[in-house]
Amino acid sequence: MSRIHFRAWIVAIVVVGLSWGVAACQELAGKWVFPGEKLHNGEQQRTILDLNQKGAEITGQIIALGWANGVKGTIHDSHFELFRTDVEEPKPFLVGDVANGELRITFWGGTHVGHKASAQDDIVIPAQIAPPALHPVASIGQAKTPPMGWNSWNLFADKIDDKTVREMADAMVTSGLRDAGYVYLNIDDTWEGLRDEKGVLHTNSKFPDMKALADYVHSKGLKIGIYSSPGPRTCGGYPASYGFEEQDAKMFAAWGFDFLKYDWCSAGYVYKDEAIHAVYQKMGDALLATGRPIVYSLCEYGLQKVETWGPEVGANLWRTTDDIRDEWESMMTNIHVQAPTAPWAGPGRWNDPDMLEVGNGHMTADEYRTHITLWALTAAPLLAGNDVRTMTAETKSILLNKEVIAVDQDALGKQAVPVKVGQLERWVKPLADGGVAIGIVNLGAAPAVGNVEIKDLPIQGSAKQVRDLWTHQIVALQNGAYSATIPAHGTLLLRISAK
Ligand code: GLA
Repeated sequence: MSRIHFRAWIVAIVVVGLSWGVAACQELAGKWVFPGEKLHNGEQQRTILDLNQKGAEITGQIIALGWANGVKGTIHDSHFELFRTDVEEPKPFLVGDVANGELRITFWGGTHVGHKASAQDDIVIPAQIAPPALHPVASIGQAKTPPMGWNSWNLFADKIDDKTVREMADAMVTSGLRDAGYVYLNIDDTWEGLRDEKGVLHTNSKFPDMKALADYVHSKGLKIGIYSSPGPRTCGGYPASYGFEEQDAKMFAAWGFDFLKYDWCSAGYVYKDEAIHAVYQKMGDALLATGRPIVYSLCEYGLQKVETWGPEVGANLWRTTDDIRDEWESMMTNIHVQAPTAPWAGPGRWNDPDMLEVGNGHMTADEYRTHITLWALTAAPLLAGNDVRTMTAETKSILLNKEVIAVDQDALGKQAVPVKVGQLERWVKPLADGGVAIGIVNLGAAPAVGNVEIKDLPIQGSAKQVRDLWTHQIVALQNGAYSATIPAHGTLLLRISAK
C-alpha cells in the first residue's frame, strides 16, 4: 500500500469510528415524560426523567407525583442503564432504549414509553417550609404491645374502597381476628381526593363519607387507621399533608381515626433526609394537639436510624425496611434488615419490618408460618395484608395461632436477633415470665434437624415446660435437649416457661 493510500485509510477509519462514536452516544439530555394512570381523584400520574449527558455518562433524576430518585449511568448505542444515587445496588434501577425520538424504559417491573416533555408536564415542587426546631413530643402511653390489625395495601393497593373496608370489618369479627387482637383496620394510600381553596383535603369517590365509615368500623368493636405523607404527595401520587399538618390531623381526629401511617415518599422533594426527625415531629405535635389518642406509625424505610429517635416525635412504630413483597426472599430480607434495630424495641416503641403477606398466595404454608413466627419473635406489629373475607383454614390457623400472637404481644417487648449456624438460624426472645421463645428457621431447601439445648438459653430459673407453638403440644426433653426435623423454609418454634 502506498503512503498516500495508507493515510487515506487511516482518515477513513477515524471518520467512520467517530460517526460510530456519535451513534454510540445518542443524545438523552433533557426532560422526558412517561404518562401514567389516571388517579382516583382525576389527576394524571406521570413520570419525568430529567437527564444530563456528557459523552456516554448520564446523570439526572426520575420524578413522579409522589416520589423521586437521583439516577446515574451510561448509554451505549441506543441502550442505557441507570442506577439510583441514594443506594448502592448491583443491578440498574432502570434500563431503557431510545429509538425514533421515543424512550422505552423498564423499572419496578413495568415498561413505559415516553417522549420529550413540555412545560405543562412538569411536576411542580412547592417552596420549602422550614422544619420546626426539635423538642420531644410527649408520649401518651400508647401501643404498650405491638399494634395488631389489618392494612389494605399489600393485597388491594389502589383497589380499596368504602364497601371493601366495611366487608373487611365484618370479616375481622366473624373470622375471629378481632378477638385474637387484630383490632386496627387501616386504610392505606389512594383514599385522597383534591385539596380545596380552604385547604380541606377531600376524599375521592371511593370513600364518600369517612366519618360514617369510621363509625361503622367502631360499631364492630374495631379501631380504624388512615394514611398520609409529610410531603406534598403520597407515594401513590395523591395530595398529602405538607403545609397542612395541623388541619389534616384535626380532620383525621374529627372523622374518628385511631391510627395514622405517615409515609415519607415525596417529602424527599422538599426536605433533606436530615430534616426527617423535625418533619415527623411536626405531625407528632399535631396529633397530640387533637387530644385523640392516635397511634402514630412512621413509614420512612429506616432512614436516619429512625429506631433511635422515633419515640421523641411521638411515634409508636416505624418501618425499618423497604416494601415487603409476597416472596420468601423479600420477607427474609426485611427481617434481616430489621435485626440490628433490636436494642431499641420495647413497650410503646416498635420496629416494623412491614405488613404481613400471610395468605396472599405466593409463599408455602411453611414459609408463611416462618413469616409470622419471625414477626412475633422480633416483636413486630402484626398487620395482616390478605383478604380476610376469604381465608382458607390454613391461613386462619397461621394468623389466629394464639400462642404465636402471645409471643409477639409479650409484655417485656424484647426483639430477638438471629444467630446463623449453617442453614439454621436461631432467634431467641426473652419473655416476661422469665422464660424464652426460640425459633429455629431452616433457610435451606431440604429438611434439616434443629436442636435446642435448654442450658444454652437465657432462662431465669429452670425450665418448667416446653411447648411447640405450631403443633400445640408439650414436648419432652431428652437430657435437657430437644430436636426435631424442620421442613425447608419452615420453623421450629418453642416456648420454654420458667419455674
Ligand atoms: C409506600 C409504603 C407502602 C404503601 C405505599 C402506598 O410504598 O412503603 O407500605 O403505603 O407507599 O403508596
